[in-house]
Amino acid sequence: MIRRSGQLSGALGTLSHLFPFSAFELPPISIRTLVPKLYDILMGLHGNELVAVKGWPTLEHVGEQFILSARRLAPTHPSCISSDPRGGSIISFTSSPFSKPLTTLEFLHADTNMKVLAILYDGKEAALQEPRLLGTTENKLGIADWLQKEGHEFIGDGLDTTLCVQHSIYIGRQVSSSKEGPDSDFQKHIVDAEVLITTPFHPGYLTKELIEKAKNLKLCITAGVGSDHIDLNAAVDHKIQVLEVSGSNVVSVAEHVVMSILLQVLVRNFMPAHEMIERGDWQVSDIARNAFDLEGKVVGTIGAGRIGYRVLQRLVPFDCKSLLYYDYAPLPAAAAQSVGAVRVEDLKEMVSQCDVVTVNCPLHEGTRGLVNDELLKHFKKGAWLVNTARGAICDKDAVARALKSGHLSGYSGDVWNVQPAPKDHVWRTMKNPLGGGNGMVPHYSGTTLDAQARYAAGAKSILENYLIGKAQEPANIIVGLGKYESKAYGQR
Ligand SMILES: NC(=O)c1ccc[n+]([C@@H]2O[C@H](COP(=O)([O-])OP(=O)(O)OC[C@H]3O[C@@H](n4cnc5c(N)ncnc54)[C@H](O)[C@@H]3O)[C@@H](O)[C@H]2O)c1
Repeated sequence: MIRRSGQLSGALGTLSHLFPFSAFELPPISIRTLVPKLYDILMGLHGNELVAVKGWPTLEHVGEQFILSARRLAPTHPSCISSDPRGGSIISFTSSPFSKPLTTLEFLHADTNMKVLAILYDGKEAALQEPRLLGTTENKLGIADWLQKEGHEFIGDGLDTTLCVQHSIYIGRQVSSSKEGPDSDFQKHIVDAEVLITTPFHPGYLTKELIEKAKNLKLCITAGVGSDHIDLNAAVDHKIQVLEVSGSNVVSVAEHVVMSILLQVLVRNFMPAHEMIERGDWQVSDIARNAFDLEGKVVGTIGAGRIGYRVLQRLVPFDCKSLLYYDYAPLPAAAAQSVGAVRVEDLKEMVSQCDVVTVNCPLHEGTRGLVNDELLKHFKKGAWLVNTARGAICDKDAVARALKSGHLSGYSGDVWNVQPAPKDHVWRTMKNPLGGGNGMVPHYSGTTLDAQARYAAGAKSILENYLIGKAQEPANIIVGLGKYESKAYGQR
């Protein structure tokens, strides 16, 4: 129910005067623009029965009504008459709270409160020296700077600090790297956070159990690509939206994949060659016995989305014998043709043809443990495997066994089944029988400084859209309200 008041139509003149557009064409206005003026207007209308509605602060003219979209009012507020599914409140301003003069901040602070919890990694010295390391607790994705630039006030520092967005909303902001166990900042603060920002590089694992405790959670933003650290099915059930910054680091990862295939580790046996030089040795035959050209080889990708396709594009000039892909979503014909990629519908059949297999699909129920003992049996003996998608897509021990036996010549990637990887993780030190073939690095292929600029900007943009009630970029929505929007997290 929305309370209506004929008296509002009398305010049309005032509003038209204040806003430089026709009352019938009022566009959505952000709260920052709207509120200072709106407050004056509301004060001017003192005594009138006012307006209401769900959503974010926008002003619409409906019939004779002005509809103030005034999200964020606590459901317990006396003016609140209902909740909307996005977590906003449908409110009715009657005489309260405007029957007595309130300052703008009092009005807003009384009812507005949002906690944004950000789980990032500690960048330590490097982050202090390099401000472009945005995905760190020190540099906070640039969000604090952004708010300040927008004219907001930043109060305090450290864990329990508060960002005061002037004239609009308080954000209780928590930024921490502590994410494991019941005493972690993550688990303590998730219970009343409304927005969770995480990054795949230091994943805060939002399990079903935690989601059940997170009664206030409305939005999860992944600063980067890959939201498997969130139980997406539970997010669907609890109507928690999950968005990521699609495309933000796909070139960074594709470049890393090609580097891994060609130079750093696998086909050219680069790592043992470099280690030999550092040791002061020189025995070319020890390296050359396991070094090959990429030309004439068969390369296949499991997943041919943004990254997989970019890998194929980058391999074209190497004149591989063939480029294959396995994906339930076929590439558009023109895209497949332009890189000469051939789709293979059976995964075992694809891997049995490949000299190099690269994994570029998301982690979900259908891909967890996909590369296991059984699938590895179908790999060519001596094949190379590159996985920059997610560690848990490959069975840790099966891969280690295959490398040790020489069934795989090399395994390379930056993603691990648990992150940070424990010190004794077998993938840190596993080797092929010739003492090479390990190209593992920490999770960083998608977090180059260029990528960080893009995903930090994207995360801010998602947050800002949420704050002002603007529609999100469809490509960024993994889970919308109560349903999967992305088709990349499994066939359903
Ligand atoms: N290492 C890093 O730094 C890093 C950075 C970005 C992304 N990633 C990982 O790479 C993944 C892919 O990213 P993207 O941008 O290419 O995503 P995308 O959504 O553009 O493409 C994913 C593709 O995988 C396909 N797919 C899904 N399930 C599959 C299955 N069972 N078998 C075969 N194909 C399947 C989808 O149909 C889609 O075409 C991310 O989900 C993330 O896990 C890693």
